[in-house]
Parts: sequence; structure tokens; C-alpha cells
Amino acid sequence: ARMAEADILRGQGGETHQVARGDTPVLTTQQGVPVADDQNSLRAGARGPTLLEDFHFREKIFHFDHERIPERVVHARGFGAHGYFELTESLSDITKADIFQRAGEKTPAFVRFSTVAGNKGSPDLPRDVRGFAVKLYTKEGNWDIVGNNIPVFFIQDAIKFPDLIHAAKQEPDRGFPQAQTAHDNFWDFVSLSPESVNMLLWIMSDRTIPRGFRFMEGFGVHTFRLVNAQGRSTYVKFHWKPKLGMQSVAWNEALKINGADPDFHRRDMWNAIQNGDFPEWELGLQLFDDAFADKFEFDILDATKIIPEETIPIRKVGRLVLDRVVDNFFAETEQVAFCTQNIVPGVDFTNDPLLQGRNFSYLDTQLKRLGSPNFTYLPINAPKCPFAHFQQDGHMAMYNPKGRANYEPNSWGPAQGGPRETPERGFHSVPVVESGEKRRVRAELFADHYSQARQFYLSQAAVEQTHIKDAFVFELSKVETPAIRARVVSHLLNVDDALAKRVAEGIGLDAMPAAAEPARPVIRDLKP
Ligand code: HEM
Repeated sequence: ARMAEADILRGQGGETHQVARGDTPVLTTQQGVPVADDQNSLRAGARGPTLLEDFHFREKIFHFDHERIPERVVHARGFGAHGYFELTESLSDITKADIFQRAGEKTPAFVRFSTVAGNKGSPDLPRDVRGFAVKLYTKEGNWDIVGNNIPVFFIQDAIKFPDLIHAAKQEPDRGFPQAQTAHDNFWDFVSLSPESVNMLLWIMSDRTIPRGFRFMEGFGVHTFRLVNAQGRSTYVKFHWKPKLGMQSVAWNEALKINGADPDFHRRDMWNAIQNGDFPEWELGLQLFDDAFADKFEFDILDATKIIPEETIPIRKVGRLVLDRVVDNFFAETEQVAFCTQNIVPGVDFTNDPLLQGRNFSYLDTQLKRLGSPNFTYLPINAPKCPFAHFQQDGHMAMYNPKGRANYEPNSWGPAQGGPRETPERGFHSVPVVESGEKRRVRAELFADHYSQARQFYLSQAAVEQTHIKDAFVFELSKVETPAIRARVVSHLLNVDDALAKRVAEGIGLDAMPAAAEPARPVIRDLKP
């Protein structure tokens, strides 16, 4: 059969590499040898021993034996789809990022939604945070916004992430629970880490049992920077707003759905796209400067806090549309590698200590998960703009650059010398001035863990407050150690008296504990 154009990858010199895609009619081995019989192994006589000589059998079993790769250490269960981002308003005054220059222009995108704690085969509707990871294949490189469906996080410093995740995933001795937050280790850790309290209120709300991925908000969580052509930096928080509005199921529905259809969310996304009912979000930006950051009640580097939309309104600048399911789940959804450090000229980091840790963690874990530093060549991970560098070799090096030079500077001309630096186009960090004592310490403004939790709780409608109360009661009723239950209530006393009381009653606490230290006076009276 003649190869379809899509079955051929072209190398640097235009030479062709064939890719096995499963749509040629003749079954072959990996070596291209036509297979005569795929039903019977080679035997010495119909009832005799199987022969070592059977290269087809051995190749087939060998490859099967190596099909599995490690699942993600977090966010193992996920579902991805292709689409595009369309800019609706030029932001050239704020950022030089190519993707934000021309209104109406579309940029290819891949998005993976996920749960956090459950393993790859866990159900879609545990009470859990959802990942919302967006890869934008811009003309100046891949930009990943690796976010969640909740705008705050459990911890302020990445050094606590292994502890948080160990506590949240199955307990090491018993191997359960698989995907629920309802267990002693999780509640023990978070109740000993008051910085988690704001997040606890958010995760006990209906946001953690979304009706589907199409009905979720997304957040970049951290404060990032946008940088314009003059080098001026503006702080930014990223928001994805679902066109269908935010919707959740009720807890008893979630429990039933998990039993009846553990693939509920991925099925919903698949069906919607296949039916032409394309999921869509608006990209919203909260933009602010140093003057605002200096006077804001909280530190803009603290990922356990939001900036209320009433304080900094959201500016809608584009839309994200998912219009194509993957061809192959493993090749795309499983092997896609998102990384917070994938940014482009015109975007930059801040010193958020959670973000700085993430920037190290993702690439590191992906080397382990995908097995080779060349995973960037996988079609789902490769940029869609031209790229050229002198990285070479390693496992599965398929596209080492052609020619003599594999270093620079070099004195070989354009044909042989390879790519060159371009200071005018290339990525520059914002030249922020930094100084300080080298110490393990947190900024003072990171210390108020309750005011925003209270603000969030009071902003909820009565029925939503009841759901939050019910969720605490359900989860804590699964916690066996009385001291841990009481400690959670001691934090709730710093959030809202009535909530603490209702939860204490619900779980049958013998006596009301004292409010956790630091107690009430620290709480700011923020408007709900
Ligand atoms: C994976 C979000 C904090 C380490 C993910 C994924 C998302 C996400 C959406 C799934 C990516 C995918 O679909 O492939 C977040 C958010 C965080 C956060 C919003 C806080 C604001 C952290 C921190 C660390 C971390 C603090 C470590 C220091 C990881 C790792 C993976 C992951 C190792 C697996 C990546 C892979 O195997 O490809 N995270 N995360 N995350 N995250 Fe985070």
C-alpha cells in the first residue's frame, strides 16, 4: 500500500521516516516483515513445546510487556482534548507575547483535565480538586498554564508538597482510600497546617464535585507577569470562565454516578465534542501593578489567597474552544507533559515559592515518567513553530540536528553552523532587583490563614453553606481519631462560629474545642 502523507515524518534534510499508524492493510512485525499467522505461536508439533525461534511471538510479547509507564505522581486520572485559543482583544500595550498581539488570531491548544489524588483508574467524581492544564502552541514556543479549578492552594511553599500529597493519597500501610479525601492522614496534615484552611473551605464546597469538565472554572492560581516590548511588567492572574456557567452535582449524585459510570466526566467531554457541542471558556485576566501589590492586604506571592474580582475586575481577552478529541489516548493525553516553566517571551514568573518549586518539579518528574529527555519530540509536546537547538543524544534521539556543528559559538557558516541567539526576539527575564538574608523564613503577610476562608464561606448562598457543612460532617465522620476531628473544628471556629457549631454537632463532638491559635483577633473583617 502507498503510504499516506500523514504516515510519513520528514527529517531535517527532507528524508522520510515512516510511522506505524495501524491503517495499512498488511500486518507486519516491527521490522516490517509481513506476518502470515498471528493466531498460533511456532511449535514443535501441534502439542509440542513453543520454539524460542519464534521472533514474531517474542517481539509481540516483549512489546506488550513494556506498554505501561509510571502514572503521574499526582493528577494521574485525566482526560484531554484539542482546540484553539482565539484572542478577542490585542494586549500589545501590556505584553509582547506573540499570542496576545492580533485580535481574531487563533492558536492551537491542548487541554488536560484531571483529578488530583486518585490513581489512573479511579472514578471521575471523588470530592477532589480538578486540574485544568492548558498547552498553547504559540508562534514563539509552547506556553503552559498548568492550573486547577480552584483559585487557591493548600500550601504556600513547594517544600510541603510531598507531605501534602503523601497525606492526601492512599495511606501507606493499607493502600486506601483511593480517591477520597475522607481519611485520617489527610485531615491530620491539613489541620496541622493552618495555611490549608482557606483551601479546605473551597474543597468542601460544591466546586470539587463538578457536573463535568465543561462546567468548571480554571485558574492559573499564582501571580505571573506580563511584560511588554518596553520591558514594563504587569502582574497577572489567569482565569478560565466556562461558557456554560459553573455547575456541580450534589454529593449523593456524585456517589451514585461513581458507581454507575466512573467515566462520567470523560464520557461527557467526548460526547460533547463528537456532537459538535464544543466546550468553551473565556480567558480572563486580573491585571495589577506594584502599587496595588504593596497596598493589598495579602501577599500577591501567597498562593493560598485570591485577589477578589470586586477588587481587581476580570478583563476578558479571548476564548478557548475544544473541538477535537484525541486520536490516541496514550500518545496524547497520557504522554502530554505540562510544565509551569514553559513560558514564552512576554510572560514571566514571580517569586511565589510554590511556583518556583513547581518549575523544578514538572520537568524532573516527566523525565522519570516518560523515560527520556527527548519526550519534547513527541508530537503532542513538540512546538508547532520552528525550533532548533544543540541538545542531542539520550534515549530515543530520533532527530539529532544534521550537520557538523553541535555547539555554539562556532565558525561554520549558516548552512553548517546551526541556529544563532537572537537578543531582540529571545526570552529575557524581567531584571527585578533582589536582595535579602539567606534564611528559611516566610513573609509576614503570609500569616493570616483565616480571613479569606471566612470571606469565602460568608459569600456562599445558604444552600451552599449547608453543602459545605454537610461535606465537613461527611468527611470528618470518616476520620477515626477524635483529636483530629476536634482540631479541624478548632480551625473552623476561626472561620465562622455557626459553621463550627453545626459541624461539631454533625459529627457528635463531645465538647467544643478552643479556637486554634492564632485566634480570632488576627482575622480581618473582609466583606463577603
Ligand atoms: C501535575 C496543577 C502544585 C507537582 C499537575 C497537573 C496539574 C497541576 C493541572 C496535571 C498536569 C497534566 O494534566 O498532565 C497544580 C496546581 C498547583 C500545583 C494548580 C498549585 C497551584 C504543585 C506543586 C508541585 C506539583 C507545588 C511540586 C512541587 C506536580 C507533579 C505533577 C503535577 C509532579 C505530575 C506531572 C506529570 O507527571 O506530568 N499539577 N499543581 N504541583 N504537579 Fe502540580
